[in-house]
Amino acid sequence: MVAAMSNSGGLDIIGPNAGQDAPPKNRQDSLDKMRAEIRKTKSLTDKPFGATLINGPDLSFWRPTVQMLAEEGVSAVLINEVLDPEIFDFFKQHGIKTMYRALTPTVANSQEAERLGADMIIATSFDEGGAVPSRVIGTFTIVPMIADSVNIPVVATGGISDVRGVRASFALGAEGVYVGSGFIVADECPADEKVKQLIVNSTAEDLILFLTLPAYYRTLPTENGKKLAELEAQSASREEMFEAMDSYHSLWQGMRLGNSDKGVVSVGTGVSMIKAVRPASEIVADLMQDFV
Ligand SMILES: Cc1cc2nc3c(=O)[nH]c(=O)nc-3n(C[C@H](O)[C@H](O)[C@H](O)COP(=O)(O)O)c2cc1C
Repeated sequence: MVAAMSNSGGLDIIGPNAGQDAPPKNRQDSLDKMRAEIRKTKSLTDKPFGATLINGPDLSFWRPTVQMLAEEGVSAVLINEVLDPEIFDFFKQHGIKTMYRALTPTVANSQEAERLGADMIIATSFDEGGAVPSRVIGTFTIVPMIADSVNIPVVATGGISDVRGVRASFALGAEGVYVGSGFIVADECPADEKVKQLIVNSTAEDLILFLTLPAYYRTLPTENGKKLAELEAQSASREEMFEAMDSYHSLWQGMRLGNSDKGVVSVGTGVSMIKAVRPASEIVADLMQDFV
């Protein structure tokens, strides 16, 4: 999937659980598989691609991850959340571009990322799929807000699934777009085929929003998604919600395995504009048609 994107002129990001044939056994297992996926991607493309660095409070894990990404020579790293000068400096010294992405982007964290040397800011809105920002700010507001506050390029994300979203993003001050949900239906994406059809046949009106701390998620109405919505309506405890989300394995169950009873299918509001399962190259060509 990542190689197909790079070969089509996009720049994809290898996720933290790339290459997992099951939920990771432990962090080392996750790291080893991510390294293997990076090597596999390098064997399939000469073009640049990136990787994600998900930071947590446990420094013992992200230091080895940072080291591995530099050893493997990825072109760009998406830094989630943590604003640590050491990490930005390390990547700069290794000639690796940094994209800063806070779950909830703010003027303050964007300016701090710029000060630390980030090469670009990903301005994520409440319209996105996956874990959504804690502030209810849509793409139309977050993009100009962040673009006006920094001097480095801003990349718009959330609800962008066709060329109209790309044009709007650039009109709002973005210099790139970051698309998630729209590529789940790519031929090369290892999501379950029934799930791809469900996405194609759904609209934003079908989406369920629920809270599993620390973040809100959206899902199409799988059986598990409906259960999560019911639990939330009953003001279920954090533990009950987390259990129903199967400690986050719901994304794996719902999207990779297509298990409606155990899983969620998380996509952004741009699901309304996703109309067909097709090669990643066609999706990139459609989105970027103004730039050829
Ligand atoms: C199922 C799913 C899982 C995601 N997981 C992550 C993640 O682990 N880390 C991350 O930074 N973003 C994650 N995202 C967010 C995407 O990177 C991206 O910001 C988002 O999908 C863009 O909005 P869109 O889906 O409306 O195109 C996820 C998105 C989806 C749909």
